[in-house]
Amino acid sequence: MYEKLISESIKAKKLSHSPYSKFRVGAALLTKDNKIFHGANVECSSYSLTICAERVAAVKAITEKNKKFKAVAIATDSNDFAFPCGACRQFLSEFSENMDVILVKSKTKYQIYKLQNLFPHKFKLK
Ligand code: THU
Repeated sequence: MYEKLISESIKAKKLSHSPYSKFRVGAALLTKDNKIFHGANVECSSYSLTICAERVAAVKAITEKNKKFKAVAIATDSNDFAFPCGACRQFLSEFSENMDVILVKSKTKYQIYKLQNLFPHKFKLK
């Protein structure tokens, strides 16, 4: 079902700018209108300014007027399945709280979660 999105997330790892951690993350975000936006982690020498792959993809989509997401595929080189960080869970859940989150090790090794299950209680202003 998500074969294309999964392979796009693996390709997106090549866009990673990660000279400090050497930990590449690629994201492919599928919008409600079936568009795919790519993201990769972008690191900064002032480490906390680093931006995660998922938020890069989300910001690209949102600023092109695509605010509803069906799924995000997240690919890394890790031997473990790499879950999105808390900040990315909050960020994505503000736009589509029950989207699918696909953790990708390879084209055939992946896990699919509902964002709601990974992040049941998001921060809300009211
Ligand atoms: N990273 C992501 O891109 N997404 C996450 O959800 C967690 C971590 C990146 C940030 C940093 O460049 C590298 O992984 C190591 O923490």
